[in-house]
Amino acid sequence: MAVTAVVGAQWGDEGKGRVVDLLAQESDLVVRFQGGNNAGHTVVNEHGTFRLHHVPSGIFNPAALNVIGTGCVINPGALLEEMAEICAGGGSCDRLVISERAQVVMPYHVLLDGLDEARRSHDGSAIGTTKKGIGPCYTDKYARVGLQMGDLLDRTWLRERVETLVEAKNVIVQRVYEGEPLSSQEVYDNLCGEADQLAPYIQDSLPVIHEALRRGDDILLEGQLGALRDIDWGTYPYVTSSSPTAGGAASGAGIPPRCIERVIGVAKAYTTAVGAGPFPAELHDGLGDKLRSIGQEYGATTGRPRRCGWFDAVAVRHAAMLNGFTSIALTKLDVLDGFDQIQVCTGYKLNGEELHRVPTTRLLEQVEPIYETLPGWQQPTGTARRFADLPAAAQRYVERLEALVEVPIQHVSVGAERNEMVVRG
Ligand code: GDP
Ligand code: IMO
Ligand code: MG
Repeated sequence: MAVTAVVGAQWGDEGKGRVVDLLAQESDLVVRFQGGNNAGHTVVNEHGTFRLHHVPSGIFNPAALNVIGTGCVINPGALLEEMAEICAGGGSCDRLVISERAQVVMPYHVLLDGLDEARRSHDGSAIGTTKKGIGPCYTDKYARVGLQMGDLLDRTWLRERVETLVEAKNVIVQRVYEGEPLSSQEVYDNLCGEADQLAPYIQDSLPVIHEALRRGDDILLEGQLGALRDIDWGTYPYVTSSSPTAGGAASGAGIPPRCIERVIGVAKAYTTAVGAGPFPAELHDGLGDKLRSIGQEYGATTGRPRRCGWFDAVAVRHAAMLNGFTSIALTKLDVLDGFDQIQVCTGYKLNGEELHRVPTTRLLEQVEPIYETLPGWQQPTGTARRFADLPAAAQRYVERLEALVEVPIQHVSVGAERNEMVVRG
C-alpha cells in the first residue's frame, strides 16, 4: 500500500498538475483534498494541454478513479464546463467521484468575493483573490451555513435552504455593498439543472477511499496552491481559506494521517506568486521579466502575470517542516537554462539580524533577502532523463537546493510534457 500526498512547497503554481499527471499513470486513485476552481493545474499529454480546476490531475489515467474530496469547494456550473472540456479533448469523466460532503460554491459567494476585494482595494488591503468565491464559501462552511453537494439531490430541502440563504445574503449585498440582489428562484433553478447532470457522480467518498486502502491500492492525494498560502502557516492574510498541506490532505480526503507514507513537495526551481503579500526574493527588474517570459508565468485561472523571483530556500524549508516532505519534485529547471548566474535566497535580514525562518507577515514584509550566487549552465536541459545527463552546474544547483532545504530532490522536471522528467534512484 502506498499513499502519497503531492503538495505545493511555495506560493502555488509549482507544477503540481504535471507531477500528479505523471505519478497517476501508476496510481489507482487520485483525490483532490481542498480548494476549488481557484486552482489551475496544467497537464500536457497526448490529448493536448488541459487546465484543470476542480478535477484531479489523474483524470487522464483511464484506469484511475478520481475523487473531488470532502475538503473541496465546488462551483457546479464551472465543474460541468470543465468536465465538458475534458471530454471534448478526448478524456473521460466516467471514473470521477464527487464527495457528497464537499461544499457548494454558490453565486453569492462569487459575488461577495468580488465585492469584498473591491472594498479592500480602496484601502490598499486587497488580497488579490481569484474571485471564484473560495473565501466566502469556506467562511460559510465554518459558520455552518454552507450547502454540501449531497444537499443538491433533495429538491424540497434545497428549495427551502436556497430561499433562506439567498435572502440572508441579499441583505448584505444590498445594505453593505449597495449591490443588486440575487433571485432565489433563479439560483434554485440553475442549481437543479446542474444537480441533474452531476447526480451520477455525487456519492459518499469515504467507502471509496477506504476500500482502496483495504486493497492496498496506490493512492495520490493532490493539493491545490502551496504552503505559503496556507490559512494557518502562510503569509496571512494573503492566503487561501484552506490548508494545502499534508495535514489538510488527511482531513480533506478522509484518510487517517498515519496512512500517508510519502509526501512529495513540488517546488519550482525559482519562485512565482499570484496575488498580494510579501515575497522576499521577488525580482522587480529585467531578470524577473526574463523568468516570466521564458517560464510563461501567467496565471492558469486568472491569466494574471505571476510575480517572479529566485528560489527561496527559507520558504521551502518552512514548507518542508510543515509537511514532512519525504522528497521534493523540482520543476521548470529548464527555465533557468539561459541564465549565466543564478541566485538562491538562503536567509533574510531583519533589523540587522539574520533570520532563517519565515516570520509573521508584518515582519516578512520588512526583510531583505540574503543571496548566494551559483553559476548557471547555459545549455539546454530539456532532453535530460537521468541526473547524469544534466550539465554539471545544473547538478550542483539541484544539490545545493537539497542541502539548503534538507530534503532529497527525487524528481527534476525539465519540460511541461509528461516524460520530460529526471527521476533519481
Ligand atoms: P500547478 O497549479 O502547481 O499545477 O501549476 P500550473 O499548472 O499552474 O503552473 C505550472 C506551469 O508550468 C504549467 O504551465 C506547466 O505546463 C508548466 N510546467 C510544469 N513543469 C514544467 C517544466 O519542468 N518546464 C517547463 N518549461 N514548464 C513546466
Ligand atoms: P494552484 O492550485 C496561484 C492565490 C490568489 C490569492 C490567494 C487567495 O494553481 O497553485 P483565493 O481565490 O484562494 O481566495 O485567493 O491565493 N491563489 C493562487 N495562486 N495558484 C493557485 O492555485 C491559486 N489559488 C489561489 O492569487 O493571492
Ligand atoms: Mg496553478
